[in-house]
Amino acid sequence: MSITMSTPHPGRFDKGLADTIAAESAMSYIDGANGVLEYVGLEIDTLARNSTFEEVVYLLWHQKLPTRSQLDGFEEDIRAEHDLPQAIWDMMSSLPASAVPMHALRTLVSALSLYDPEADDQSPASNQRKATRLLAKTPVLIANFDRHRNGKDFVKPDPSLGIATGFLTMLNGKKPTKTMAQALDVCLILHADHGFNASTFAALVTISTLSDIYSAVTTAIGTLKGPLHGGANQAVMRMLDEIGDVSKVEAYITDKLRRKEKVMGFGHRVYKAYDPRAAYLKTFAGQLAHDTGNQTLYEKSEAIDKLMHERVASKGIHPNVDFYSATTYYSIGLAVDLFTPIFVMSRIAGWVGHCIEYLTSNKLMRPRCEYVGPHNQQYMPIEKR
Ligand code: SDX
Repeated sequence: MSITMSTPHPGRFDKGLADTIAAESAMSYIDGANGVLEYVGLEIDTLARNSTFEEVVYLLWHQKLPTRSQLDGFEEDIRAEHDLPQAIWDMMSSLPASAVPMHALRTLVSALSLYDPEADDQSPASNQRKATRLLAKTPVLIANFDRHRNGKDFVKPDPSLGIATGFLTMLNGKKPTKTMAQALDVCLILHADHGFNASTFAALVTISTLSDIYSAVTTAIGTLKGPLHGGANQAVMRMLDEIGDVSKVEAYITDKLRRKEKVMGFGHRVYKAYDPRAAYLKTFAGQLAHDTGNQTLYEKSEAIDKLMHERVASKGIHPNVDFYSATTYYSIGLAVDLFTPIFVMSRIAGWVGHCIEYLTSNKLMRPRCEYVGPHNQQYMPIEKR
């Protein structure tokens, strides 16, 4: 006897889960109508102006700002986990120089689990240790894969440096200026968490099966790569290149909108006002572009921003975090195809933080689907089909 369960709302489903609340969280608050983002109740531009990435990660993971000794202890824990197993260094050396950095990163992060004896330990304490491990190792993987693909020797992590300064030092083989290190630190703060965005939600689907943190983060990296999500910052840079001279902006954008093509770095599932991260980055990118001789790039971005405001702001389409992060990362001197890996380096904080939070009252994520196919079909032998 077959028991058919009718779907709860026949004929109606929430496409893209746009209006579905999948769980509660105390990490990020987003007011999409008014363009507000808070991490544990602290407004994002207050944190960008006053905090550091490591302090923000502590806030997201422990629900409070650290004391000086707590922050020193956390930074020490991170630095103790910087190094990679020798097998991972060897694997990195064997990867094709032509590999897309996001593919290389997804592969290497997944491989880290093979050398972590507690990879499958689901205890909160073990997951917290693995969270710190991933936070510490991801910058080392990104910087040194880039060195490998450019035929340069690896630069091992300097345990005396923080994440932003340490990353740029490994990447370029020399210490960055204070301005550049601070610029990257601000970007890492702005990208650290953002509610149930696609990659965080993907990580939660994985962890909800009681799979492991490495599998959840590997899922998230693959999800973030898409140009509708974390890959947008690279797509913005390609668009800025494609446009050429700032005088071509109007024709280019008009044509894109006429063909109903998406302008990368604009629009958001939740923000129908200016993304507060884009607002902060706009000022930041302007100063940095000026200091690094990239004004024309910034002027192009401003011209696109202004034109899109005239054309589509009424539809709630505004710049998102990826629009001005492109100019910022370019001004810091980063290769375009490292923009999304740097998003990973920051969002690791949100991904593992949400996984650990969700596991405190886990429920397997398994939505329903509305079956619209046929019933009562006969099996026709192949010779008669
Ligand atoms: C990130 O979710 C998060 O929190 C993500 C993120 C995070 O921190 O994790 O904030 C990071 O991913 C930012 C978004 C980066 N992606 C892009 O910049 C890609 C370009 N943006 C779009 O693809 C789009 O805006 C989305 C995917 C971001 C959101 O799209 P939705 O909510 O699915 O809305 P939609 O595609 O159905 O668009 C609604 C309308 C459509 O017009 P109509 O058919 O109703 O006439 O708005 C239009 C769209 O054509 N529209 C755009 C547009 N985005 C939406 N038109 C031109 N350019 C755009 N960028």
